[in-house]
Amino acid sequence: MNVLDFQAYKQKGEKIVMLTCYDYTTARIVQDTDIDVILVGDSAAMVMHGHATTLPADTDMMCRHVEAVARGAGDKFIVGDMPFLSFRQSLADTMRAVGRLMKAGAHAVKLEGIAGNEDTIAHIVESGVPVMGHLGLTPQSVNQLGGYRVQGRGDDAATALKEAARACEQAGCFSLVLECVPDAVAAHVTAALRIPTIGIGAGVHTDGQVLVMQDLLGLNTDFKPKFVRRYLDGSQLWQEAFNRYSSDVKQGRFPAEGESFNE
Ligand code: KIV
Repeated sequence: MNVLDFQAYKQKGEKIVMLTCYDYTTARIVQDTDIDVILVGDSAAMVMHGHATTLPADTDMMCRHVEAVARGAGDKFIVGDMPFLSFRQSLADTMRAVGRLMKAGAHAVKLEGIAGNEDTIAHIVESGVPVMGHLGLTPQSVNQLGGYRVQGRGDDAATALKEAARACEQAGCFSLVLECVPDAVAAHVTAALRIPTIGIGAGVHTDGQVLVMQDLLGLNTDFKPKFVRRYLDGSQLWQEAFNRYSSDVKQGRFPAEGESFNE
C-alpha cells in the first residue's frame, strides 16, 4: 500500500481497511494480516494512557508510538495523527511536528478539521507529506462540540459537512476520515469526492472503515458504542489466561520440568 493505492482502491471499488495500533508487539501481529493501513491515532491518549479525552496527546507521545509501530509494521502504510493544537500554532511549529512524525516512521499524517487549516494542509502536502483529513466528530474539538455526538444531522449541518469535505479534497488531502455522521451524509460525501472516505460510525457506503484496535478486540469492556463491532472477547480471554497463570503458580504447576534450568 502506498499513497497512490488509496485512489486506486476507490476507483476499483475495493474497500480500504484501517486499524489503529500503538505499539511494536501489536504492529508485528498486524504486519502479517490483511489490514491495509495502520493509524497511530491520538486515541492512544485514551486507550494506552488512560486519559478521558485525546487532548493530552502531544507530539512526543505520538512520536514514541509511531516509532514503536514502525519497528514492527513491516511495509504497512502508517498514518500518524497530529495531536491537539499541534497544527494550530505557527506554520513552523506545525512543520516541526509533521517532520518529527514522518522521521519517526509515518508515511502520512492525519489532521482533524478543515476550517482555518486549508493553507496548512496545502503547505504540508506541497512539502511532500500526504495528509489524511478527518471530519464529522473530531474528538480534539469535543469541548466545542458539546460532547461525543453524531455530526452532520439536519440539512444545514449536512451541507456544511459536504462543503468541508470538498475543502479537504481541494486543500490536497489524499483521503478523509468521516467519524460519526449519518449513513446518507457519508454516502453523499463519498460519491461527491475523488479521494476515498474512511468511515467510523459512518455506515457502509464509505470507501473504507477504521476501528480502534482495543474496541475491535473487546479489550475495553466499558465502551461499546453502536458503531463498534467486537471481533473477540479479548478482555475475558486475557483474564482467563492471567487467572490460569495465577492458579498454576499458586498450585505449583508453573514452572514445570522443561520450563526451568537443570544446571
Ligand atoms: O485517534 C484515532 O484513533 C482516530 C480514529 C478513531 C479515526 O482518529
